[in-house]
Amino acid sequence: MTRIFTVAIDGPAAAGKGTVSRAVAAHFGLAHLDTGLLYRAVGAKVLRGADPTEAARALDPADLEADLRTQEIASAASRVAVIPEVRAALTDFQRDFARREGGAVLDGRDICTVIAPAAEVKLYVTASPEVRAERRFQELIDKDPTLTREGVLEDVLARDARDMGRADAPLVAAEDAVVLDTSEMSIEEAVGAAIAIVGSALPAG
Ligand code: DC
Repeated sequence: MTRIFTVAIDGPAAAGKGTVSRAVAAHFGLAHLDTGLLYRAVGAKVLRGADPTEAARALDPADLEADLRTQEIASAASRVAVIPEVRAALTDFQRDFARREGGAVLDGRDICTVIAPAAEVKLYVTASPEVRAERRFQELIDKDPTLTREGVLEDVLARDARDMGRADAPLVAAEDAVVLDTSEMSIEEAVGAAIAIVGSALPAG
């Protein structure tokens, strides 16, 4: 296999792209970057009082190790992600990761469109807002028993509106991305479909 091979995966919150990305990376032995974590780490610093652009410029690996998977941080991430200077500060790291030796999978909102438009495989993983909200609810309810289904659906819709409606690098399916709608799929089916798509694009040998 050629040693530079990029799989770019975009999609809205809780569509299954994290699971699909990790499984594709593990299956093909590629490095994986969840780019949402970068925005979450900036969002978490801003919740603690930092300036968003300064926080993005000063991001280091230790910032990514905290527990960033809360609704509050997700929402802060989507708010800092509208700031062009924040996005610009995170671009080089993501582009370098995409072209690293050995191949890489990156998942996020603008990977196919902005970060790695020349990726060998582009996927847009999506699902209906109701299905995504239910998945997110199941994922978070143990950690936060005060969550309600309605509240999670509202968060998902608000985040969609912000991620899709922002001026700089809005979430959109790239024209040449393969759309994988996981609404009616189990995790195993979604992973299987993604592995088949990536496998068919891999150079022989
Ligand atoms: O994928 P996630 O839920 O961890 O992402 C959190 C937020 O970060 C998301 O609502 C928008 C932003 N984000 C982005 O703007 N661009 C990316 N490539 C990844 C995430």
